[in-house]
Amino acid sequence: MLRRAGPSLRHFLLERNSSAGHSSYSREAKMSRPVQARRLEGIDKNIWVEFVKLAATYSKVNLGQGFPDFPAPDFLREALTRTLSGGNHMLHQYTRAFGHPPLVKVLAQFFEKLLGRDLDPMTNVMVTVGAYQALFCCFQALVDEGDEVIIIEPFFDCYEPMVKMAGGTPVFVPLRPNPPKDGKLMSSADWQLDPAELASKFSERTKAIVLNSPNNPLGKVFSRGELELIAELCVKHDVLCISDEVYEWLVFDGKQHTRIASLQGMWERTVIIGSAGKTFSATGWKVGWVVGPDRLLQHLRTVHQNSVYHCATIAQEAVAQGFQRELMLYGKPESYFVQLPKELQQKRDWLVQSLDGVGMKPIIPEGTYFLVADISPFKSDVPDDPNSDEPYDSRFAKWMVKNKVKGSGPSCSFYPGWVCAHPSSGWGTWSSPTLGHSRLQPAPEQHPQLHMLPLPRALLPSRSPLSTARPTRTTTPISSGSALQR
Ligand SMILES: Cc1ncc(COP(=O)(O)O)c(C=O)c1O
Repeated sequence: MLRRAGPSLRHFLLERNSSAGHSSYSREAKMSRPVQARRLEGIDKNIWVEFVKLAATYSKVNLGQGFPDFPAPDFLREALTRTLSGGNHMLHQYTRAFGHPPLVKVLAQFFEKLLGRDLDPMTNVMVTVGAYQALFCCFQALVDEGDEVIIIEPFFDCYEPMVKMAGGTPVFVPLRPNPPKDGKLMSSADWQLDPAELASKFSERTKAIVLNSPNNPLGKVFSRGELELIAELCVKHDVLCISDEVYEWLVFDGKQHTRIASLQGMWERTVIIGSAGKTFSATGWKVGWVVGPDRLLQHLRTVHQNSVYHCATIAQEAVAQGFQRELMLYGKPESYFVQLPKELQQKRDWLVQSLDGVGMKPIIPEGTYFLVADISPFKSDVPDDPNSDEPYDSRFAKWMVKNKVKGSGPSCSFYPGWVCAHPSSGWGTWSSPTLGHSRLQPAPEQHPQLHMLPLPRALLPSRSPLSTARPTRTTTPISSGSALQR
């Protein structure tokens, strides 16, 4: 039989307290050992935090993070309203940990179409708290102490700390610019991997490669040939591929997004990551997913069930309804996945034209809502501080955000997002997740203040030939109509 220990324990503690004296007791409670886990060393700083604060102080428009400021499509918002006000009160409760059944089911149907293979919704699909958690699950589940993970530069900033947190070592390989000889503006397609350099990064220590196509921040959409090269190396060295495809529907100029998992020998070793936030312009909902073989996903499920469990049931239900609509309209002009890139392509064209007009050298993105531009022509305008080793890109971003820069020409407002420069080169780039912003219409009279964020790593390993490229003015006609907002 259990005896109640309450009174005697209280008595013991009171005695101990009074004999030790209160002040010495609280001194003992102070910890002298380090509280921070070693895995957090060197990854505690986050540039977004600094620049989001800066934007809040100086800006009206937040262009620093990759989210649109136009509404999510009506059909998605209506789905959420229906879910909230409908009679199914169970939608306010927990759902299946690895994904609300209607959502994993429709995702499986959708990806069966895209990949041309049968998928089991319960084992080949897992829903996550945004693509961010999908990435976290991948690194935690698949990367061990001492493993190397190849990351293609420039890259979405969280890959590096997430690899490190898992005990792995990031190994970087850059996309290198090949400027067109005719003086035309560069395209993100002109940034390519050097096949020999890429091959040199693979070794027996390599566990995985992170592929992000369409790429944040360049907007590069990897060609089938480039993906085949990566696939060949993955198969040869028995390496996994973590394929971040959150911008899969944001591809311009009629280009096709090829899924590396559809290439020979890649399904078994690839985890595809997606995001309803990017897909349906609802980043705050934080619904993401992974699609892949059960032999990989079973380990991701272990991380998932021991960390986050799942994201909001109602958001998953509404996203499921959004996908059901898109499945019905697949490939048709009314499909959101057809309309959205058309809309953003117009904004891209306008932004390219504007930046070119003020002397920056924009790199025309083939996809995503980011745009990178060379800012080296502005070096003389940005005050240099001899006492600071802050890179040019970061100083430029702050200078822009604080000085509310207005261009000299009629439609020359700058709308930068973030900038990047290699410290040892005279070259700088400026990149902007601006295409998702409805206010970024050709409106010369508007000069919203700016918000910028620097890239975490240098874009260029050496002085860029870009600095000698002569910018030419683009002549793409711009339309300001917004079908998506109607
Ligand atoms: C390349 C890339 N992957 C993943 C994410 C995270 O997506 P989510 O908001 O769904 O977590 C982002 C967000 O900006 C991104 O740019």
